[in-house]
Amino acid sequence: MKFFVDTADTADIKALAESGLLDGVTTNPSLIAKSGRKILDVVAEICAMVPGPVSAEVAATDYDGMMREAAVLRKIADNVCVKLPLTPDGLRACKTLTGDGVMTNVTLCFSAAQALIAAKAGASFVSPFVGRLDDLGQDGMELIADIVQIYDNYPALTTEVLVASVRHPIHVVQAAKLGAHVATLPPNVLRMLYNHPLTDKGLAAFLKDWAATGQTIA
Ligand code: E4P
Repeated sequence: MKFFVDTADTADIKALAESGLLDGVTTNPSLIAKSGRKILDVVAEICAMVPGPVSAEVAATDYDGMMREAAVLRKIADNVCVKLPLTPDGLRACKTLTGDGVMTNVTLCFSAAQALIAAKAGASFVSPFVGRLDDLGQDGMELIADIVQIYDNYPALTTEVLVASVRHPIHVVQAAKLGAHVATLPPNVLRMLYNHPLTDKGLAAFLKDWAATGQTIA
């Protein structure tokens, strides 16, 4: 399973990229706004740090506007993945960009039917938002199960399921059990994946016993 980080905070991305476990980055207009920086600057900096796909979202809602913005975004770097909303115009732009060899991420997916049409449009990634469905009292993971099952039925569909709006490590584990290709995680959730109190306790005990031996490994 690939791990993307869902942030436009370049300091966080730099630190997480050093782990060697980061496969890509997703941003959205809210995350860019939170960074307080210009989208082109932030995306260029991220693309230089992380070799994998870096999603940068269009702000236009009409086909021509999306295509104009996509032309600007794709020029930033080869690893830019143009993020488009799951609307008729967004999917039309997706189809055109895919035909032109551009990576695409269709975002704001909340149903299996939407995921199917995104795949038909040739999206490189589709982003179902599990946390926001959970917030409404629906089961976001049921949507992931449905999409994975549908895509598995049609091997010609190459779209990867990118689990988004992830809120905690259980989402990640459930998504992996279902065979989702990618999860994009807020930095705090990515860091949580490392943690277990028994790891800390066990390490403290090993270090104490080791210190008592007076040895060094050299
Ligand atoms: C995905 O690409 C989105 O940027 C993101 O996962 C949205 O998450 P949120 O529901 O926590 O805002």
